[in-house]
Amino acid sequence: PTGHLADTLARPLQDLRISVTDRCNFRCVYCMPKEVFDKDYAFMPHSSLLSFEEITRIARIFVAHGVRKIRLTGGEPLLRKNIEHLIEMLAALTTPDGQAIDLTLTTNASLLARKAQALKNAGLQRVTVSLDALDESTFRRMNDVDFPVSAVLDGIAAAHQAGLGPIKVNMVVKAGMNDAEIVPMARHFKGSPFIVRFIEYMDVGASNGWKMDEVIPSAQVVRRISADMPLEPIDPNYPGETAQRWRYVDGSGEIGVISSVTRAFCRECTRARLSTEGKLYTCLFATRGHDLRALLRGGRSDDEIAGAVAQVWRARADRYSELRTANTAGLEQPLRKVEMSYIGG
Ligand code: GTP
Ligand code: 5AD
Ligand code: SF4
Ligand code: SF4
Repeated sequence: PTGHLADTLARPLQDLRISVTDRCNFRCVYCMPKEVFDKDYAFMPHSSLLSFEEITRIARIFVAHGVRKIRLTGGEPLLRKNIEHLIEMLAALTTPDGQAIDLTLTTNASLLARKAQALKNAGLQRVTVSLDALDESTFRRMNDVDFPVSAVLDGIAAAHQAGLGPIKVNMVVKAGMNDAEIVPMARHFKGSPFIVRFIEYMDVGASNGWKMDEVIPSAQVVRRISADMPLEPIDPNYPGETAQRWRYVDGSGEIGVISSVTRAFCRECTRARLSTEGKLYTCLFATRGHDLRALLRGGRSDDEIAGAVAQVWRARADRYSELRTANTAGLEQPLRKVEMSYIGG
């Protein structure tokens, strides 16, 4: 129904990240620390979750507004029952000019070996796998549930075999925790079909107790890898890509660095986020969302919902990471930001 939708900083709406569950079977220290996400933690009841029909209806509206990429996240998206069925429904969506959408998913890979082929058959194009260390004890300390590295590597291999590529491997780098794994990770995946991306630890949510001195700047990541295996910068794949790309001078592939702390990329941020219970967030660091579920369940038409989405996007002014960079002394977090496991990485 609409042409180009732009926010107050002239950024188009192009990506939708959908959180399909707020649950996860990992307790990564930087995301769902055990002290907070314990057995008494109130996860969302089933009735609060958007159904697959509701998600698909919202997704269709976003695609009509210009969205070309949909990423399923969580929590851990593969924990959502029958996720293959949702993928089938989303894979059938096409852009106004008749193109298939880029449909992908971010996973901790714990269930990937078992599910890769079914995901591919359902129409998923690719996956991004989180892996924070190759060293067994470091990885177990990060996921905090004793999950073994080998199972993640098996998941990556199964996804590759199923044709779910190009596969990216995301490593969140937390100083003193897993930064000794930067070079080993790079070396392990050098020359493989898999692209490792090193992510600066961010101050998302309200429970990870983020401190600036736990961030390893991407420039340092590149320097450390380059000392062993020389790198040179290459152009982005598309405008607004979260990662800066670097390739090995010897031609054996590339890595990426995602520097949301030291080099904010809000200027070109085209991402909207839909929470598990159907709230629309216009920034990863937003403090409140817009309740689309109320509109869905209140009997509003597609046009009315499309109008509400357009209104939210046109009013959007978020640029949290840029503001943080401008004020890195601002270690205090006055507003209670939503958790990443709820809003979706
Ligand atoms: P590609 O489509 O493969 O380029 O993936 P992507 O980089 O868009 O998505 P991915 O889920 O792989 O994002 C990797 C990580 O980048 C996330 O887990 C976040 O840590 C971070 N990230 C992604 N989007 C944003 C964003 O809009 N703002 C900030 N600050 N960080 C983001
Ligand atoms: N900082 C950076 N990335 C994070 N993620 C979760 N929490 C953080 C954080 N504090 C991202 C990681 C992980 C994905 C699920 O979410 O990329 O792989
Ligand atoms: Fe789960 Fe991913 Fe968060 Fe780890 S980072 S707790 S795997 S959602
Ligand atoms: Fe986009 Fe907000 Fe991330 Fe900036 S901080 S890139 S506006 S999601």
